[in-house]
Amino acid sequence: MVIVRAKDYQDMSRKAANIISAQVIMKPKAVLGLATGGTPVGTYAQLIDWYKKGDIDFSQITTINLDEYRGLPKTHEQSYWYFMHEQFFNHVNVDESRINVPDGMNPDSEKACREYDNVIREAGGIDLQLLGIGVDGHIGFNEPGNAFELETHCVDLTEQTIKSNQRFFGDGESVPKQAYTMGIKSIMQARKVLMVVNGKEKAEIVKKAFFGPVTPEIQASILQMHPDFTIVGDEEALSLI
Ligand code: GLP
Repeated sequence: MVIVRAKDYQDMSRKAANIISAQVIMKPKAVLGLATGGTPVGTYAQLIDWYKKGDIDFSQITTINLDEYRGLPKTHEQSYWYFMHEQFFNHVNVDESRINVPDGMNPDSEKACREYDNVIREAGGIDLQLLGIGVDGHIGFNEPGNAFELETHCVDLTEQTIKSNQRFFGDGESVPKQAYTMGIKSIMQARKVLMVVNGKEKAEIVKKAFFGPVTPEIQASILQMHPDFTIVGDEEALSLI
């Protein structure tokens, strides 16, 4: 585990973007596992900036997103498909045919999950998986208590996650109760894992997850066992370690 200390959110975003950019420069056909949430937005913005300056080319990469709300169509502003297009894909030269986000509208959840596992396998696995972390230690939508052995599956979101994500939804619009998420097994098979984390509300969980016991109650704690795991955090998030 490598911990990179950044001064602030901007610095965290630049450092994370540097790591992703190095991956793409070294392997233009890289498979990037991508994440949503507020934390990686600055990382995507930095990558877009470097793309516009001609420093990085995304034309050959494949992207595989971590998760998607169940029941939200792509056109819904809070779907992760929509988020990724708004925050990143629409501004760079990623080939749309190599963008993968779980299909939240597939009513056959078992089929949707197995198809997504095949997408990961057929891409040859993930070279670099970008992650954020929830305040309860969830990664993707792998909620506390989930088995570490799972591949893509459908989850019931916890009250905590629903509450945390309510800020993105409009008044009177509720957060879906379920989501499809890549499992811990698939995340652990990524060749490199990069976590971005900022803000004092994440300090406690960073300490518990990476300096406490490995337990399914804190899903991110399994990353302690990953052979190539880097955390880029700002001062506040890393203040307790
Ligand atoms: C959501 C996403 C996670 C993300 C988490 C934290 O639940 N499914 O992938 O890491 O939120 O989000 P934020 O970065 O906004 O704190």
